[in-house]
Amino acid sequence: MTDDAPPKLRSRAWFARQDKMGFYYRSWLRNRGLPNDQFDGRPVIGICNTWSELTPCNGHFRTVAEHVRYGILEAGGYPLEFPVMSLGETQLRPTAMLYRNLASMDVEEALRANPLDGVVLLMGCDKTTPALLMGASSVDLPTIGVSGGPMLNGHYRGQKIGSGTNTISMSEQLRAGEITLREFHEAESAMSRSAGSCMTMGTASTMACMVEALGVGLPGNAAIPAVDARRNELARLAGRRIVDMVKEDLRLTKILTREAFENAIRTLAAIGGSTNAVVHLLAIAGRIGVKLTLEDFDRLASEVNCLVNLRPSGEHLMEDFYYAGGLPVVLKDLVERGLLHGDALTANGRSLAENVADAQCWNRDVIHAYDAPFKPQAGIAVLRGNLCPDGAVIKPSAASPHLLRHTGRAVVFESIEDLHARINDEDLDIDESCVMVLKYCGPKGYPGMAEVGNMPLPPKLLRKGVRDMIRISDARMSGTAYGTVVLHVAPEAMAGGNLALVRNGDMITLDVPARSLHLHVEEAELAARRAVWTPPPIPLAERGYTKMYVDHVLQADKGVDLDFLQGSSGSPVARDNH
Ligand code: FES
Ligand code: MG
Repeated sequence: MTDDAPPKLRSRAWFARQDKMGFYYRSWLRNRGLPNDQFDGRPVIGICNTWSELTPCNGHFRTVAEHVRYGILEAGGYPLEFPVMSLGETQLRPTAMLYRNLASMDVEEALRANPLDGVVLLMGCDKTTPALLMGASSVDLPTIGVSGGPMLNGHYRGQKIGSGTNTISMSEQLRAGEITLREFHEAESAMSRSAGSCMTMGTASTMACMVEALGVGLPGNAAIPAVDARRNELARLAGRRIVDMVKEDLRLTKILTREAFENAIRTLAAIGGSTNAVVHLLAIAGRIGVKLTLEDFDRLASEVNCLVNLRPSGEHLMEDFYYAGGLPVVLKDLVERGLLHGDALTANGRSLAENVADAQCWNRDVIHAYDAPFKPQAGIAVLRGNLCPDGAVIKPSAASPHLLRHTGRAVVFESIEDLHARINDEDLDIDESCVMVLKYCGPKGYPGMAEVGNMPLPPKLLRKGVRDMIRISDARMSGTAYGTVVLHVAPEAMAGGNLALVRNGDMITLDVPARSLHLHVEEAELAARRAVWTPPPIPLAERGYTKMYVDHVLQADKGVDLDFLQGSSGSPVARDNH
């Protein structure tokens, strides 16, 4: 056995040993038929896989991992695939978000404790992307991201239907009596007809765009459909590239800079991306050590035009986005307008501007030019006021223009169960000018800050043709959802925010142009209400992970990470295990 590898390879602390411990470290791995030369100092690359049958969006990841493996072998690396906790957005209760931080811990500890020199992150369904990026950021190995890609477009009775977006609109149609249950069931299979993540510009697609905009993934990462052969090609190229990244010692901290996050924030606006990206980017930045605040989103991007005509803000779907040229077209336009740091380094060793220099748009109805945008000034707006002293967010591009400046009477739901119990009540005292308020759905309260902020509208108003109302909560909403929905209110009700003190009949003013959200109740009255306030119990938070979570979770404006997970411990090699 030779040991001519650069000493910086941490895997040498395992495999270069010619003693009892070297025997331990090598012998068991050899049971798969590995020749001795596998341990000759070649970079050892982890393939961090979130495959799970419980995460159908990542159900093709065994195949993707095989293509990554080919690439690693072709480049002379030693691939080792391993599973981490997978988070299936549609199945996990009370919400996949509760477990994002747990999965990130799994990733972090697996990377640091094992003989790995670099890692390929396989990510798809909503929370798998931030979880893996957060975990990897706390270790800072050379890292490349590979997204699984979106599903094929949904097709139903001659129409395109989009993940989540049409789930919501069709369930409203069902509640309004406009479609039958049979049609509803038929649409379920018509929507999800291939492997891959949601093909709207929901959270999964948004985060795949963030991977590309941050420079952690290869150009094209965001939009290639999951079942397109070019997705496997990209995986293979990523496998080849990570081996070189290890040799170049191109660590995550060199890519995830302040400039990279600014690029991501502006891109988020230009794609009309999910509000969830706000909490995820804040959390990732908190791990890698980049100072990022909620204000950065408003300051950098609220004026940025939205170019991408994709649901939920627009009409088309991710397949269309890819065929129109994909994210490189958007990035190129932003670079040319001086809105991005074009010199930001990306995983392939080239700058962002170099990567997108040749991008061409093939369909201007799907990707608009910056000067003829799909929606002007469409970034996420950050609100302040006595109802949200630490901030709240709204996505104006998905809201109704006539509600962006509105005062209405509060109709308060004290919990998600209270909402479900009363929303269908024909006697509910509500009209379309009212402001719906939902409490205790934040990070601690739900727990996990579920995607319930886009409350269903009362059927009596749906029948009247009302399709949007102002809704305010400490929850998140699905990236595939839409409406005039104020989210991420901080501090949340469970943490004693003024949201907890709102009562039926209070007047609330939303003024998005002025960035304000105001509860028209005097300070003295709020103090009196606070004196008699007692928070409700948090479900299933007596012990275990959920107890640790509610004891340590940060508020939405800080990224909803656990306080003790912020920052990095790097990749030191721990003591021998025997
Ligand atoms: Fe998995 Fe949308 S539910 S990506
Ligand atoms: Mg979701």
